[in-house]
Amino acid sequence: MSHHVVLIPGDGIGPSIADSVRKIFAAAQVDIEWHEHVAGVAALTKGRDVMPEETLEAIEHHKLALKGPCSTPVGEGFRSVNVALRKRLNLYAAVRPVRSIPGVTTRYQDVDIIIIRENTEGLYSGVENEVIPGVVMSMKVATEEACKRIAHWAFRFATQRRRKKITAMHKANIMKLTDGLFIRCARTVHKTEYPNIEYDEMIIDAGCMKIVQDPTRFDILLLENLYGDVMSDLCAGLVGGLGVVPGANFGADTAVFEAVHGSAPDIVGKGIANPLALLMSGVMMLEHIGVQKDDAKLLGQAARIRAAYELSLADGKKTRDLGGDLGTDAFTDAVIERL
Ligand code: NAI
Repeated sequence: MSHHVVLIPGDGIGPSIADSVRKIFAAAQVDIEWHEHVAGVAALTKGRDVMPEETLEAIEHHKLALKGPCSTPVGEGFRSVNVALRKRLNLYAAVRPVRSIPGVTTRYQDVDIIIIRENTEGLYSGVENEVIPGVVMSMKVATEEACKRIAHWAFRFATQRRRKKITAMHKANIMKLTDGLFIRCARTVHKTEYPNIEYDEMIIDAGCMKIVQDPTRFDILLLENLYGDVMSDLCAGLVGGLGVVPGANFGADTAVFEAVHGSAPDIVGKGIANPLALLMSGVMMLEHIGVQKDDAKLLGQAARIRAAYELSLADGKKTRDLGGDLGTDAFTDAVIERL
C-alpha cells in the first residue's frame, strides 16, 4: 500500500535537494506516492498565491508533507510562508534533532540534543504595527493554552523516547509575563504529570554560552518560537552546519517535515547544495509513518537509507559544506551506491 505524501520542493536550492531525496527514496524502493504542490516564490512565479489554498488542502487531506525551504523577503514584502503554514495547520511543535554524525568532524563529539520549539506564538504572531512614523511595535504573544500544549508535547516526547532531561530556556527575567507564563506552564506540567523526567531552566543568554562550551551536557531543549529558531541554527553549527540538521513540525494529526536551513540563495544553481538535511527529514518522516502504522518494512527502509548516508560520509563522500568535494548529484549517487 502506497503512502501518500505532499511534496513541496520550495525555492532556491529546494527543487534540487527535493529531487535528490526522491531519487534516493526511489532507489530504496520506498513505496511513496508524492503529490507535488507549490508554495512561496515558486507559487508566485506560476501566478498563484504565495501559499496556495490547494497546497494547504492537499496537506490537510494527506496529513503528511515533506517541504523544501521557502524564501521570505527581508524587511518588506509578503509574510513568511513557513510561519503561515505552521499557523494554518496548527503545527504547534517543531522538533529538531541535532546529533554528531560519523564522518563529519567538528569541535565536539557525541552531541545529541533535541530542540523542541513552540511554533505558533511569541514574536512570530505577526502582530506588528506603526504607532506613529518612526515608532514601530511588534507584539509578543503567549497563551496558557499554547504554553501548556507544547510543555505536554515535550514531556510526552521525552517519555516515549526515553530521554532524561528537559531544559527550558527563557528570558523571564525581562519578559516576566510572556516568558514567565512559558516556564510556569512547563513547571506545572513537569511537577503534576512527569516528575520522573529531570527538568531545569536557564536564562537563554547564559544557556547559549553553556551550550557552545559543552553541548554534551544537554538533552532536550524546550523553547518558545523565536528562541527555538535561533537556537536551532546555533546548535546546527555544533555538529557540522545547516546541511545536517533535519526537522519536523507536528500538529494534532498532521506533520510537515523540513530541514532547518533556508533556500540558500548564495549557492543556488551551483550544484553544490547538500541534500542531507532534507533527506534526514525524509527519514524522520518514514520513521514517523512506520511507527504510526506499525510498518516494519518502512522502518527497515528508513534504517537502510540512514546507514547509506552515514557510510557515504564515513567514506569521505560528502558535499563541500561538510569539507568534501561532491556536488548535489554526486553525493546523491554516492548514497544510492551504498544502499
Ligand atoms: P539559509 O539557511 O538559506 O543559508 C544560510 C547559509 O547556510 C548560507 O551560506 C547557505 O549557503 C548555507 N546553507 C544552507 N543550507 C545549505 C545546504 N543544504 N547545503 C549547503 N549550504 C547550505 O539561511 P538564510 O540565508 O538566512 O535564508 C535564505 C532564505 O531562506 C530566506 O528567504 C529565509 O526566509 C528562508 N528560510 C526558509 C526556511 C524554511 O523554509 N523553513 C528556514 C530558514 C530560512
